[in-house]
Amino acid sequence: MLTPRKTRVVVLISGSGSNLQALIDGVAAGDLPIEIVAVISNRPEVLGLERATRANIHAEVLDHKTFAHRESFDQALKEKIDSYQPDLIVLAGFMRILTAEFTQHYQGKMLNIHPSLLPKFQGLHTHERAIEAGETRHGVTVHFVTAELDGGPAAVQASVPIVAGDDATTLSKRVQRQEHVIYPLAVKWFAEGDLRMIDGKSVLKGEPLSSSGFQIWSDET
Ligand code: GRF
Repeated sequence: MLTPRKTRVVVLISGSGSNLQALIDGVAAGDLPIEIVAVISNRPEVLGLERATRANIHAEVLDHKTFAHRESFDQALKEKIDSYQPDLIVLAGFMRILTAEFTQHYQGKMLNIHPSLLPKFQGLHTHERAIEAGETRHGVTVHFVTAELDGGPAAVQASVPIVAGDDATTLSKRVQRQEHVIYPLAVKWFAEGDLRMIDGKSVLKGEPLSSSGFQIWSDET
């Protein structure tokens, strides 16, 4: 009997790679039916590259600073990614705005994680902004990538409380604990064929999800 081919995943990073680590750990624990075929960073010498190498995953750098235009970087990145013939591309702290052509090429095959309860707080400095806005809860969203920055359909969202005395550091730590739960979960769903983007919506096990995705509520402080 043929064993089903594992979902081939390329992970894009720019920094510490703790979300990459959560995926590596999920594979090692036998929880994720994926093969991480490559890790690509747009920044040299980041911790995420070391994490990949330690796990015997092919890791390489494509430095955006060596390209004159966003378009030429995205084109080179696309060629590099496609050389690994991935089924899924996972943006894990990849701090680049992508061209519409690039995102369209991977429509329905690319996930991103964003540290806010989207559609709230798209863009940067989400933890500070959530505290300043007087929110009582904050969180993180895994979504399919479309041409709209932080705007594609949500797959799963985890929310955490904001407590008295929180600053961006304490809050980001609380949010990151959930990141490391929901990213492996979304990738597992995708790999098992349960999560898809259909007609611009996230669909889980055949059911279209609400615009905020599958909800996870944490009261951990
Ligand atoms: C995470 O907070 C993620 O939500 C954001 O970038 C950060 C990446 O962290 N998109 P790491 O590199 O996975 O540790």
